[in-house]
Amino acid sequence: MKIALIGCGNLGLSILNGIIDNPLVAKQDIYVTKRNPQSILHFQELGIHVSSDNKLALENAEIILIAVKPYDVKSVLKEINPFLNPEKHIVISAATSVTIDEIKTEIQANVPIFRAMPNTAADIKQSMTCISTTSDNAKKIEQVKSFFNLVGNTILIKEDLMESATVLGACGIAYVLRFMRSMVQGGIQIGFDSKTATEIVNHVVKGAAELLIERKEHPEHEIDKVTTPKGCTIIGLNEMEHNGFSSSLIKGISASYKQIEK
Ligand SMILES: NC(=O)c1ccc[n+]([C@@H]2O[C@H](COP(=O)([O-])OP(=O)(O)OC[C@H]3O[C@@H](n4cnc5c(N)ncnc54)[C@H](OP(=O)(O)O)[C@@H]3O)[C@@H](O)[C@H]2O)c1
Repeated sequence: MKIALIGCGNLGLSILNGIIDNPLVAKQDIYVTKRNPQSILHFQELGIHVSSDNKLALENAEIILIAVKPYDVKSVLKEINPFLNPEKHIVISAATSVTIDEIKTEIQANVPIFRAMPNTAADIKQSMTCISTTSDNAKKIEQVKSFFNLVGNTILIKEDLMESATVLGACGIAYVLRFMRSMVQGGIQIGFDSKTATEIVNHVVKGAAELLIERKEHPEHEIDKVTTPKGCTIIGLNEMEHNGFSSSLIKGISASYKQIEK
């Protein structure tokens, strides 16, 4: 895979970290750009091409991942358009709310266009990446899925769900981390030091997620196994619900979604 990563900020860096040691990608086939590349120049020592030259990156890559802020996408597309080759390149935008139709108006026809919504767990190859496209080219779709499979799991969704994917898949990381922080704080209140509480919580959350991923069950099915009648788990859970636990999560998700739609 020959990859141009245009916009090596928070997300771009996570993806770079996720692919950097993958034997399927030669380091000399990775081109990363940033307007001010000083902070990522150290990647050059590994053989990765680092610059602010998007044209150079494009000339040497097939998969073009644009990970700049949404308001910068248009100018990047204008800049790279003259050098795009529909036979060679696949353009993937990770920008929230920039539609495939909007991208199409900026670049030449026939270049396969994808939107992708990864998350920062790409850093450790655990992203959940939602992908959408209007392309019916099965080979290109497979190529894009294979690329994001390097940094975790992928799912193909309709484009009208990409904003929902941003909330659930990308913002979701922050919701889960805040939930975990609260569990750690609770753990400290009942006697653990912060380090021990964090270690316990991290593995409890990992275990709960793995349980659902492996068993493919609804969460409530696993909850039923832990909630002894009149026991401490159900008392605690109900207390959380009386204080709006599920409701506040659902309201938060819906508030994030409304903010994107503005
Ligand atoms: N962060 C997430 O968890 C996440 C998840 C999914 C999707 N996204 C999407 O990913 C995009 C990037 O988000 P982010 O959080 O990574 O933002 P960020 O940290 O601000 O990174 C954006 C990067 O784009 C670079 N850039 C801007 N214009 C450029 C140009 N013309 N050529 C080359 N590089 C350019 C910036 O470089 P300089 O710093 O040198 O100016 C910066 O490093 C957004 O559209 C966001 O919606 C983010």
